[in-house]
Amino acid sequence: MLRKLAVAAVSVVALSGAALGAEGGHTEDVAFSFEGPFGKFDEHQLQRGLQIYTEVCSACHGLKYVPIRTLADEGGPHLPEDQVRAYARQFTVIDKETGEEREATPNDHFPPSSLENAPDLSLMAKARAGFHGPYGTGINQLIRGIGGPEYIYSILTGYTGEEVEQAGTTFYENKAFAGGLIAMAPPLADGQVEFADGSPNDLHHMAKDVAAFLTWAAEPKMMERKRAGFTAVLFLGLLTVLLYLTNKKLWAPHKGKKKA
Ligand code: HEC
Repeated sequence: MLRKLAVAAVSVVALSGAALGAEGGHTEDVAFSFEGPFGKFDEHQLQRGLQIYTEVCSACHGLKYVPIRTLADEGGPHLPEDQVRAYARQFTVIDKETGEEREATPNDHFPPSSLENAPDLSLMAKARAGFHGPYGTGINQLIRGIGGPEYIYSILTGYTGEEVEQAGTTFYENKAFAGGLIAMAPPLADGQVEFADGSPNDLHHMAKDVAAFLTWAAEPKMMERKRAGFTAVLFLGLLTVLLYLTNKKLWAPHKGKKKA
């Protein structure tokens, strides 16, 4: 009986492990400036990421939940207001009131995806988990984070160069994508985008920059959240000390009475 149970338990673990291994892709662990309790977005990295998104990704993917004006936010890309206005003008939107096409203003959102099967990227960095396990328990995430930006980085750098044709569609082999075959052709390559300040523009640097930008897009208030969390912990700590001392003081007259 015991032996049977043990065999059953082992095979369940082995099978679920195999299933997970087959499903999830491989995510690289990448160091980002915004990690850790005091992490911050790097303004220049976000600006480079915006440029990569605009020149490359926006051909297919939208960012429809992101208001253009937030590009001026401190703690975000922090572009000057006039640059944000100029940036907005490259998009056309349908005016809600007149129903006519007009130039976008900073108060409009980024356009939605123009390619039907390309998902909107506004929340992608929060929607995907790069780190799982062991056995889907998510314990790794406590140490390494959920892994959204790492997942995006890994997708962009995970192409093996193999292509497969299935039912008239070309799929590209990708180590990070679940199932291993993605319908997106490798979008980024070494030197594809030129930065005005001469920042490194190899594939790995650019994948990191655009992953950081998409993390900001998905969670623009991350810095405020961390700051509020830190203040809360500080105050709770202080409260603990005060309550401990109050407790001591309240009970002091009743303690040690037996001796008297
Ligand atoms: C030529 C069009 C095209 C361009 C350009 C493009 N993508 Fe994609 N992308 C797609 C399509 C199509 C899919 C859906 C693939 C699938 O589900 O197999 C996709 C999927 C994705 C996914 C989602 C993977 C998932 O887990 O569902 C991410 C992340 C992504 N793209 C990021 C980017 C980034 C970042 C850029 C710019 C560097 C970019 N893409 C440029 C077409 C494009």
